[in-house]
Amino acid sequence: MSGEMGNGPGEQSEGPSKAKQGQSRAEKRFETSIAYFERAAKVIPGGIYGSKSPGFLVPGHFPYYLSHAKGSRIVDVDGNEFIDYLCGYGSQIVGYGNPAVDEPALAQARKGDLLNQPHPVMVELAERLVGLVDGMDWAVFVKNGTDATTLATSIARADTGKQIIIAAEGAYHGAANWCSTNVFPVFTQAEQRDVRYFPYNDVAALEALFRQHREKIACVILTPYHHPTYKPQQLPTPEFIATVERLCHSEGAYFIMDDIRANFRLSMKGSHSFFGAHPEMITMGKALANGYPLSVLLGTEGLKKTASSFFITGTYWMSAVPMIAAMATLDEMERLGGTERLAQLGRMLKEGLESLGREAGFSARISGPLAIPYLTFDEDPDLFLNQRFCAAMADRGVFMHPHHNWFISLAHTEEDIAQTLEAARGAFAELRD
Ligand SMILES: Cc1ncc(COP(=O)(O)O)c(C=O)c1O
Repeated sequence: MSGEMGNGPGEQSEGPSKAKQGQSRAEKRFETSIAYFERAAKVIPGGIYGSKSPGFLVPGHFPYYLSHAKGSRIVDVDGNEFIDYLCGYGSQIVGYGNPAVDEPALAQARKGDLLNQPHPVMVELAERLVGLVDGMDWAVFVKNGTDATTLATSIARADTGKQIIIAAEGAYHGAANWCSTNVFPVFTQAEQRDVRYFPYNDVAALEALFRQHREKIACVILTPYHHPTYKPQQLPTPEFIATVERLCHSEGAYFIMDDIRANFRLSMKGSHSFFGAHPEMITMGKALANGYPLSVLLGTEGLKKTASSFFITGTYWMSAVPMIAAMATLDEMERLGGTERLAQLGRMLKEGLESLGREAGFSARISGPLAIPYLTFDEDPDLFLNQRFCAAMADRGVFMHPHHNWFISLAHTEEDIAQTLEAARGAFAELRD
């Protein structure tokens, strides 16, 4: 694939400075990336945080460092270009470098971003989100999704005077000690003592937890659909949603919907409205400002007094540029009929991949919402086939994470999907052979 932004993998320039003798093809292709990683490993713990790079899973097929991006394409530090289906871990919903977002954001950056007092856009964005997202009456802006989920659970605890948080097994709500499964056991034991888990969609297990911890439950925090790593994604059943709401109401506990990953990819009114749920608090982030750092906690009137009593602050939390970017992202999503368009592109990708997989003799299955697809192979519970497939796609200039769900953006085109499916035809054939 050749792109306007750099060399495609098949036609990478290997000038004399790059092609050292004895290097493998992969080492040559990612020479600069590897050199940066070696430097990083000396001065940054782990080199890259949170094992974020698929290059750790399938070395030699993915870059470690990217240099720039535009629309649906990313370019690494060696000049390799990829059609990107990770979209900055979901943050890019209207495409990298979209001028409709960047121009107003950069104009504000030149005028001043982080001021002593909030910029009026903070009020405008809060009003807009309260008007847009079903059932919500107030908004608090933070930086990371983890800030929002942590604040939501803290407000639920403060308001109820109860401690226990109920969450679904395998759900990701951030990297704080209360919810992360990857912290040292010494923190986990202390800070997760009051977090109880049950299998998503399992009504009986949830009822049992409510019976067991009667009068001690502050909240249930759930993602609108279940997106565990390594497993097919699960949509909520209506019975499950109804049970969560019934139990929360009867117990005086709050229902928090963590919509950070799906954000506006399912509905402009929030994913809870797509699934007919009525949470009292909602967290959003990632795509809220098309990659500018911003997340939000939204809540209902009944919780506003408690939220007001919280010491809510952070040095960067009132920065204006991301809020300007969020307003422009919402404009762009509304102007382009964003959610329908994303689903349409996602359907093309899903149907194409599943059918190419079948033709090649594999049971490739795409689960999850159309705009947030997740690939599994029925015959491959350990995900080795996933890794080999995504490696083969990366070799063909398509960036798909083997263990994480993918994202579609409004910058993806039918042409991108067609090129992706052409690459997939080759990747499936390589796996089969
Ligand atoms: C559902 C969900 N909640 C919370 C988070 C944490 O957000 P952040 O990484 O911005 O802290 C994520 C991030 O992937 C997420 O998907």
